[in-house]
Amino acid sequence: MQTLSVNLDDRSYPIHIGSQILCDSDRLSGLLSLAIKGKQVALFTNSLVNNLYGSAVYQALSGYSVDVFEMGDGEAHKSLDTYNQAINFLMEKRHNRTTCLIALGGGVVGDLTGFVAATYQRGVDFIQIPTTLLAQVDSSVGGKTAVNHSRGKNMIGAFHQPKKVVIDIDCLSSLPTRQYAAGLAEVVKYGIIADAKFFAFLEEHRQGLMDKDEQILAQIIMRSCEIKSEVVAADEKESGVRAVLNYGHTFAHAIENLTGYGEWLHGEAVSIGMVMATDFSERSYLLPQGARLRVERLLEDLGLPIALREPLSAEKMLQAMGMDKKTTDGQLRLVVADAIGEARITGDFDADLLKAVLSEYCE
Ligand SMILES: NC(=O)c1ccc[n+]([C@@H]2O[C@H](COP(=O)([O-])OP(=O)(O)OC[C@H]3O[C@@H](n4cnc5c(N)ncnc54)[C@H](O)[C@@H]3O)[C@@H](O)[C@H]2O)c1
Repeated sequence: MQTLSVNLDDRSYPIHIGSQILCDSDRLSGLLSLAIKGKQVALFTNSLVNNLYGSAVYQALSGYSVDVFEMGDGEAHKSLDTYNQAINFLMEKRHNRTTCLIALGGGVVGDLTGFVAATYQRGVDFIQIPTTLLAQVDSSVGGKTAVNHSRGKNMIGAFHQPKKVVIDIDCLSSLPTRQYAAGLAEVVKYGIIADAKFFAFLEEHRQGLMDKDEQILAQIIMRSCEIKSEVVAADEKESGVRAVLNYGHTFAHAIENLTGYGEWLHGEAVSIGMVMATDFSERSYLLPQGARLRVERLLEDLGLPIALREPLSAEKMLQAMGMDKKTTDGQLRLVVADAIGEARITGDFDADLLKAVLSEYCE
C-alpha cells in the first residue's frame, strides 16, 4: 500500500492506495480508526455497492456503533431529497458532532455524503472509500461536495475535505467496462494538463489499462491523485489554477446538459469535450500539430467516445457553455492546453474560432 498526503494545513489528510484492503479487516480497521474520533459512524452507500463491499467495511468497524444509510443509485439521487432523508436519518439515529460519515461508493455517494458532512450540525468528519475509477482518481480527493438542483448540476455544495481517502484497487474488478472507461477519461486529463511523461506512459500501456493490469492501475491512480492533490493544495477553493482540472469539462457539461444527463456518462462527455478543447487549443495556441490526434487515438483505444452520436446546435452549445461556473461577469473562460502536459485558464480567445470548432463537432 502507498500513501500520499493532501497538504492543506490543518485540513491535510492521507490517501491510501493499494489492493486487498477491504478484504483485510484488521488493516482496514486500523486505517479507519485513526480517522474516527467518536464511537458513532454512519456508513453511506447504495444497495449495489453495499451488496459488494458493505459487509467488509461493516466488519472493520466492529468497535463502533454503525448505522447504514442506503441511498438510491444514480445521478438523480444526488439531490436535495436524498440530502433531506440523510439528515433525518442522522437525527433519528441521534448522531452528534463527533460522528463520522463514511462514503462507500462512486462519485454520487461521495459527493452527497460530503455535502451532508459539510452541513450536518455545521460540519462533521467524513472518510471516502471510493469504489469507481472516477471516484478514486478524481471526486474523492479535493473536498468538492455537492448535490444537484433541477436547474443545474452541483449547484448546491460546499468545500469540505475528508479526513482520509482509502482506495482499494480491487473494487475496480466489479466495475462495468463503460464506467471504468469513463474514469480513464479523467486519468488522460491529468496527462494533458500536467504531465507529458504520464500521458506517454498511458499511450504506452493502453493495453494494460484495458486489461485492468493491477500494477499499471496502482501507478495511474497514484499519479492521478498526486496531480490532483498538488493542484488542490495550491488552490483549494478554485480561485485560479484549480480550474485546469476542468480541461474539456466546459464542453462536456454543455453536452451533458443538452443531451439530458442520460445519453453520456460524465467521463464520456469529458472525453468528447477534451477532443474539442484540444482541437481548439491546437488551432489557436501553441499546442503542436498532432496533439489532437494523439489525444483522440488514446481516448478511442481506451474505449471512449471522441465524437457526438447525434448533432447538436452549436448556438445552444455556446449558450450552455456560458452557464459554466468558470464564467465571470458574463465572460466565458476556457481551459486550454499550450502543450501536452501544460494547461491554463483564459478568457482571452478567438470567439469566432470557438464557434467554428463547435459547428464542426456539433452540426
Ligand atoms: N467532487 C468532485 O470533485 C467530483 C469530480 C468529478 C465527478 N464528480 C461527481 O461524481 C459523480 C459521478 O461519479 P461516478 O462516475 O463514480 O458515478 P456513480 O457514483 O454513479 O457510479 C457509477 C455506477 O457504478 C456503480 N458502482 C460503484 N462502484 C462499483 C463497483 N466497485 N462495482 C460495480 N459497480 C459499482 C454505482 O452504483 C453506479 O451505478 C457525478 O455526480 C459527478 O458530478 C465529483
